[in-house]
Amino acid sequence: MFGNKMIYVTDPVALNAVIAKNNQHYEEAYDFRIATRLLFGPSLLSSTGEAHRKERRLLLSIFSTSNLRDLTPVVASIGTVFRKAITSQIPNGSKDIDMHRWCTRVVLEMIGRAVLDYSFDPLNEEIEDDPALYDVPLHFFLAILWAKLLGITKTPQFAADWYPSVKVKRAKKLWDTLWDRGEVLVNERLASENSGEGKMRKDILSTLVRINLAANEKDRLTHDELVAQISTIIFGAVDTTTNTTSRMLHTLALNPEAQERLRLEILSACSIGEPSYEQISGLPFLDAVYRETIRAYPSVHVMNRETQRPTILPVWRPIEDSKGRMVNEIILDKGVTVTIGIHGYNRSKAVWGEDAEEWRPERWLSPLPEAVRNVPSGGIMSNTLTFMGGHRSCIGFKYAEIQIKIILFNIFRTFKLSPANAEVVWNTSRVAFPSVKNEDDASMPLRVELIGTTA
Ligand code: HEM
Repeated sequence: MFGNKMIYVTDPVALNAVIAKNNQHYEEAYDFRIATRLLFGPSLLSSTGEAHRKERRLLLSIFSTSNLRDLTPVVASIGTVFRKAITSQIPNGSKDIDMHRWCTRVVLEMIGRAVLDYSFDPLNEEIEDDPALYDVPLHFFLAILWAKLLGITKTPQFAADWYPSVKVKRAKKLWDTLWDRGEVLVNERLASENSGEGKMRKDILSTLVRINLAANEKDRLTHDELVAQISTIIFGAVDTTTNTTSRMLHTLALNPEAQERLRLEILSACSIGEPSYEQISGLPFLDAVYRETIRAYPSVHVMNRETQRPTILPVWRPIEDSKGRMVNEIILDKGVTVTIGIHGYNRSKAVWGEDAEEWRPERWLSPLPEAVRNVPSGGIMSNTLTFMGGHRSCIGFKYAEIQIKIILFNIFRTFKLSPANAEVVWNTSRVAFPSVKNEDDASMPLRVELIGTTA
């Protein structure tokens, strides 16, 4: 594309080489790095080499299971408020509701409270939507392409200042606001840690500031790096988690039998009160629904890498090259874009079996096909690539899981979901999102029926 060589990969052995085994030969794509640096500043998504290793080491220690367990009660309490808010929307027992909008609100609140100990939206009042912001990423990528064509590689902020689009300017304003707010929060936490008052705070920002203060000089993040990680986490977490949650609700609305089975499992585990981390983690069908949905419907369809030197890409089974010869490896020049087919691999019949295209949660309740078990793709979760793998895999995947499961738990304990009159379709974008067919703005109307207790 634009004079570059590209290769699209879904073969597990080749994927494993790109994201894990030989990852030093493949770097995060330039466009993605420049876009995320433009959006968030110097953070994990845009850094490479030693800077990336340093930032990642610090952040990984925060996303540990024990920290997640500590944050679960906060997330569970927002789940309860969310369930009550939906109940208040349906005074007559059933109604068509834009559940995507509610997923956006509850995910933002859960992430705001867990990451920053900051409430973006207490979910108790009507708020104005801003659907125009949904297509901001497209405009940002156009701005970056424009910068690239003009050879502006060192000063990406320049692109956002000069690109002739109101949406890019609004996105820049949003980013500037987030940065300013992030700085205030970081300074606040620094003061509170230094005075000893912050010791009890469990949110991710407080823990990050605490760990950073205790780190060796050479491992410590700079002030700008600290602020940038926070906006990266908020943006990286909200869009992906929201759209994945919406996909789960939509899929279950279309599959009433699976929905009923899930409801019975939830009710037998906990029919009143808030679920604990152990209760949420111990529900096999909820887990199967979660894994199957992230497998069949990954919210990010592809990620790109670029070869840093000439390299050899091994493949699982011999393939035919352009000259008609069967080969076991492909020779790649320096500068080739390797497109990691997340969606393509997750639905590969060669790996997952003939029913790979079907959404079938039961597959996770019996042994998976041999290829899934024995030919690792490098994917960090259940051999799927939804959260990628290797040294740039998603650090928040366990957090996303507990958050989404708590939302499903609350919804299906109390409501029955079914399709509304409007047809919902899924749009391919940087992160796939739902809309009503032939409409541009993100939305997902579903029929919501109150069937259980809201206690
Ligand atoms: C269903 C929800 C999510 C999906 C599908 C998802 C997907 C991904 C993917 C595909 C990557 C790899 C990007 C790359 O190759 O450069 C990634 C990286 C990342 N994700 Fe997630 N993510 C989700 C939720 C979250 C959450 C909840 C957080 C934090 C609370 C988070 C934080 C991050 C960060 C910081 C990175 C960069 C890691 C690095 O470069 O070392 N994500 N995510």
